[in-house]
Amino acid sequence: MTQAVDEAILQCSEIPKTEMRRVMVGEVAICLTHTEDGGWYAIDDTCTHEDCSLSEGELSHHLVECPCHGSRFDVRTGEVLNLPAVIPVGTYRVAVTGDQVLVDVDAKPVG
Ligand code: FES
Repeated sequence: MTQAVDEAILQCSEIPKTEMRRVMVGEVAICLTHTEDGGWYAIDDTCTHEDCSLSEGELSHHLVECPCHGSRFDVRTGEVLNLPAVIPVGTYRVAVTGDQVLVDVDAKPVG
């Protein structure tokens, strides 16, 4: 019997501060960010404007800039800050225990 995977587990050291990475959690593509203040945030990796991977963009403080047309999203809330995208991205609960970071797509608070 196949069971859906709802969590991805990585080592914190795999993603240094100010970097981000695309991770698959089951069928969901996540942009996992490690901000310069040490925070961990997970948002949908696919931009809401077109089919671009946000993890290939730029991370500055708490903002991810889409590499295709420049919309910026707040990784803490999913809020979109400028055109051309107008729809926020989904955000997901992240838990850090020891050196492990977990993303739970079942606890999606925004979207
Ligand atoms: S695809 Fe992201 S702003 Fe256009």
